[in-house]
Amino acid sequence: MVSDMRRIFHLSDIHFGLENNRALDWVKQEIEEHQPDAVAITGDLTMRARSREFEAATHWINSLQAPVTVEVGNHDMPYFNPIERFFAPYRRFRGMEEKVEREIDLGTLHIVPLKTAVRAQPRLNWSKGWVTDAALAKCLAAIDALPGGTRALVTVHHPLREVGTQGTALTKHGDKALRELAKRPVEAVLSGHVHDAFDIMEQTGEGPIRMIGAGTLSKRTRSTPPSFNDLEWDGEGLTVCVRNLDDVETGDMQIDDVPENALPPRRESDPVAPVRQVPRVDPPVR
Ligand SMILES: [Fe+2]
Ligand SMILES: [Fe+2]
Repeated sequence: MVSDMRRIFHLSDIHFGLENNRALDWVKQEIEEHQPDAVAITGDLTMRARSREFEAATHWINSLQAPVTVEVGNHDMPYFNPIERFFAPYRRFRGMEEKVEREIDLGTLHIVPLKTAVRAQPRLNWSKGWVTDAALAKCLAAIDALPGGTRALVTVHHPLREVGTQGTALTKHGDKALRELAKRPVEAVLSGHVHDAFDIMEQTGEGPIRMIGAGTLSKRTRSTPPSFNDLEWDGEGLTVCVRNLDDVETGDMQIDDVPENALPPRRESDPVAPVRQVPRVDPPVR
């Protein structure tokens, strides 16, 4: 009998240029030791999409001994070259292009990407998320084409809705995407961007949907130490362990949900997003 057990390492926000090498050495070793069935990297590979940062990211990602899928983060779009940003925004992924926004077949589970980083948007802050109609249609078509009984694991960079983390995504059309995903056999939406981990069940008009966020493997930590998510699928359910070098328990690593009205409504003209202060999780004293 073929086992349905699958293990996925969900990494995010490595930010080469300000990467945490101790954390990266540890994660690479964990991948070699445990040989997960897939590694999902949910974007922000670099700090400013500089060539040398992409070279380091490509070298590290290509050295991983596992099937890898990579989402594009807002930090991965050309930052200093607007012409390249508009006309060839993914050119710097050469050397790992076959891993970018790639689906991975894991039997009864299937990874399906959904792009949330865009090259431009009609608001001041282009770092925030945006789900275009084309990106959503592509993702939904991929889910609808899956064989019966298969659950989708959707990978995005920006969380599709605010989840109470200190960093915000303010993803435009994220609610519409969540409602469409909730109608389909989606096990969870995996995201990055906010640099803190979470695992929450969100309600939509079309039913609940699970949102799982990974922390960062960079020095740009917010409320929690560097971490990645170790996911286990047993054919029926998905469990999440937030692995980190400080041995902080998963429950203490995951930022709690907040009521929907906890964040004040934001005008498009506001240059700075509202920030909720989340208490810092102190690692245990050793
Ligand atoms: Fe990031
Ligand atoms: Fe980001």
